Amino acid sequence: MTNFRKLVPAHLHALASYKPGKSLRQAELESGVPCIKLASNENPFGPSPLAIAAIKAASSEVNFYPDNGVTELTARLAELHEVNPNQILVTAGSTTFLEIIARTLLGPGLNAVTSKLSFIVYPIVTRATGANLIEVPTLNDGYDLERILAAVDDNTRIVYLANPNNPTGTILDADAVDRFLDRLPSHVITVLDEAYCDYASYFAAQRGLDYSHWHEYVRQERSVVVLRTFSKAHGLAGLRVGYGMGPAELMSYFARMKPAFMVSSLGEVAALAALADADHLRRAVEANAAGEKFLSRAIAKMGIRVVPTWTNFLFCHVGEDVSNLCQLLQEDGIIVRPMSGPWGAPDAFRVTIGTREHNEQFVGALQRARARIPELK
Ligand SMILES: Cc1ncc(COP(=O)(O)O)c(C=O)c1O
Repeated sequence: MTNFRKLVPAHLHALASYKPGKSLRQAELESGVPCIKLASNENPFGPSPLAIAAIKAASSEVNFYPDNGVTELTARLAELHEVNPNQILVTAGSTTFLEIIARTLLGPGLNAVTSKLSFIVYPIVTRATGANLIEVPTLNDGYDLERILAAVDDNTRIVYLANPNNPTGTILDADAVDRFLDRLPSHVITVLDEAYCDYASYFAAQRGLDYSHWHEYVRQERSVVVLRTFSKAHGLAGLRVGYGMGPAELMSYFARMKPAFMVSSLGEVAALAALADADHLRRAVEANAAGEKFLSRAIAKMGIRVVPTWTNFLFCHVGEDVSNLCQLLQEDGIIVRPMSGPWGAPDAFRVTIGTREHNEQFVGALQRARARIPELK
């Protein structure tokens, strides 16, 4: 008999796989009621009708392999962002880009640095390479850049900054990131993960904050990789399209590490169509901002601490283990994301801001659930 464990490198034995938010179908089967999924920060309004039309039109040609170079989308993104096409690489979602970066730059004996309570894909992609992930404590529910700088050593190759952060929804302003980058040694690449940039830019404009100097970093070929995705505000999570922008030479190494044909033909046409529908995007971020006001107030009124958000989700600090609360919510048709397990905050949950109807149903369900848990009343 083959000893499979012996065949697999030792650093993979303890690796935990990514646990996604519960799927709608699974939750409905478990609770026997129709459910609303507010667990994975998807766009509740769906993709642009232009994207749906493009997917339909391209569907008859899925017998052909897609364009391995994702040429049309890359060119369009380069034009839109005013950078060179060789500074952009399109991948199957930005999580795949994270994996490519880790496989390219990390290995046993090396490390990456990030914060506790940040995106749970960072530990997975880092540890899969045999490298170590150093997670520093949070400051005001977000990144503590001083502590991150202090944790960087000669073996550090990557710093992951999710801006805004998932799951806490906090933001780093552009000046803080500028100062941080100026102090970072040249052997470290910063991954500036801007998955929620559309929501953050909108809030930043409303609240008078300078959000991100990503464009300067890319133009100046700083040691920064800016990650973007079509999974959030563009509503295309199911099609898996994301991209990164950074120094051309570094991107050429990433390109060698990318699996062939990783971006589907439907993903490419849908992303192109989504980019052409600015109105759809604007409506999504505006509705999100209205939902944020309504939900933040309603949840805080129940004595739950809500971290001020710059994204399309809220980090809700209940102060007691939330498993029971999340179970009751699910029985009442609402799926949220408990922040237990790898997230590291068993007394908190994260809820995605939904449509107005979703948000109202969630608040009703949360009130009913709290009433049934004596410690939370
Ligand atoms: C911070 C952050 N980065 C990246 C992603 C990944 O997005 P995708 O792989 O769907 O592009 C997410 C998704 O939740 C996220 O929260």
